Amino acid sequence: MHDNRVLILDFGSQFTQLIARRVREAGVYSEIHPCNVDPERVKAFKPSALILSGGPSSVLEAGAPELNRDYLEMGIPVLGICYGMQLLAHNLGGKVAASTDREYGRAKFTAQNDCVLFDGIKEKDDLTVWMSHGDRVEALPEGFLPMGKTDSIEFGAMGNPDKKIYALQFHPEVAHTDNGSAIIQNFLFKVAGLTATWSMASFVDTTIEDLKKQVGDAKVVLGLSGGIDSTVAAVMLHKAIGKNLHCIFVDNGLLRMGEREEVIGFLEEHFDLNVKCVDAAAEFLADLKGVEDPEKKRKLIGYKFIEVFDREAKAIEGVRFLGQGTLYPDVIESESFKGPSAVIKSHHNVGGLPETMNLKLVEPLRELFKDEVRRAAYELGLPEHIIWRQPFPGPGLSIRIIGEVNEERLSILRLADKIVQNEMMAADWYRKVWQGFAVLLPLKTVGVMGDDRTYENVIALRIVDSLDAMTADWSRLPSELLARMSNRIINEVKGVNRVVLDISSKPPSTIEWE
Ligand code: XMP
Repeated sequence: MHDNRVLILDFGSQFTQLIARRVREAGVYSEIHPCNVDPERVKAFKPSALILSGGPSSVLEAGAPELNRDYLEMGIPVLGICYGMQLLAHNLGGKVAASTDREYGRAKFTAQNDCVLFDGIKEKDDLTVWMSHGDRVEALPEGFLPMGKTDSIEFGAMGNPDKKIYALQFHPEVAHTDNGSAIIQNFLFKVAGLTATWSMASFVDTTIEDLKKQVGDAKVVLGLSGGIDSTVAAVMLHKAIGKNLHCIFVDNGLLRMGEREEVIGFLEEHFDLNVKCVDAAAEFLADLKGVEDPEKKRKLIGYKFIEVFDREAKAIEGVRFLGQGTLYPDVIESESFKGPSAVIKSHHNVGGLPETMNLKLVEPLRELFKDEVRRAAYELGLPEHIIWRQPFPGPGLSIRIIGEVNEERLSILRLADKIVQNEMMAADWYRKVWQGFAVLLPLKTVGVMGDDRTYENVIALRIVDSLDAMTADWSRLPSELLARMSNRIINEVKGVNRVVLDISSKPPSTIEWE
């Protein structure tokens, strides 16, 4: 498996995932575990270094999350960040002072004592760093040296070179800290002496080997949605177990134009994947008849999906595993320590399958972040049109048709949506935005066509920039591009005489309209 491994203990900071990413970007494998993780799991993980994350608590408060001191006895290098620094000071005999107000934002930092963490950083006497803390360290533990200060705090960093324990009051993992990645890399390579052995190619190879061992000659069933996650999971499993992987693609009738052919056709042809396409459109549409409430739509679609999938899976004899494209953020979220990083649940993919099906789970991507899945897709030889597909929700076009979903309204939206996709691609904007799509509104407005008055549907354009779908802003597209989309939709889509642009950000709006 991985020989250089960093354990990140999560004390509830909203930035914890970023720490893991910086470490992996440096070529070192890392995992996040909640700060109250079972110590046996820590032992089993065999970390080569430990990073303590920030967190919203104060070490001085009763009930604040604690550091298991045994971890400091493991003899491995430690880096404490923010709350992690206060924990180290508090546990090793230093002094932490309470503060009534939080220091939040940029600060100027000056490194001291030739601290190895700042080696090679030209600006180390005047470094812009990002702070977000209440308490501060007021006296260092024995054996520690001050390693940096700011105008407002004396101990902006501290370190005990003999024990290889270092701590930073600021957040090196955020983009607002200059040279933050270099600081983390100095910890990994110069303090901890690790080597960069983690790469996507090695991940893909070892995962495929692990899958072979985990599954043996049993059969796996996997729901292929056409999205990048389930596609990459399927291709990896296919490489591991070949025809024992049975993919099921449920066509719920709520897909985009050409979706089924573009993705599934390609996978069958080029990867020889075993895919069963189930045409269940009529069943889904029958359930959705007359339904307008968004939550009700989502639930009906979720239940129906499980029913269809379960039925199809049972028709395959001898299936023992359920393959899923679960990603690392979902894994962390389900195990996360209470704190801000745990609050926001990103999405409602169809859950509940494992419980009802009595199958063991196999999740080849459970260690990866979204952009890492794209890199894995490159390694596996998937084409750009699959790798760069924009996210598409499980309930499909149904949550982009406000009001009742029926064949007629689906075909209006499909065509409008295709025009949006085509124009975004033609103008080289498709990959620059997070998502861009059309929404069909439940109202008609008056227009004029030739000499005639029309009374037709309205299409809204929803095109957003985002990094993780948690927050988003409307994309500032060139007006010529917007004009082309609008003209084409009104001219080519029968039943539409008006196009409007959604200029709301998330929050308070969401990306999807329902
Ligand atoms: P919202 O609308 O909550 O969407 O801002 C955030 C991201 O999640 C996608 N989305 C879904 N994805 N199943 C999914 O797999 C769903 O039910 C679902 N609802 C929203 C949405 O497209 C956006 O990328």
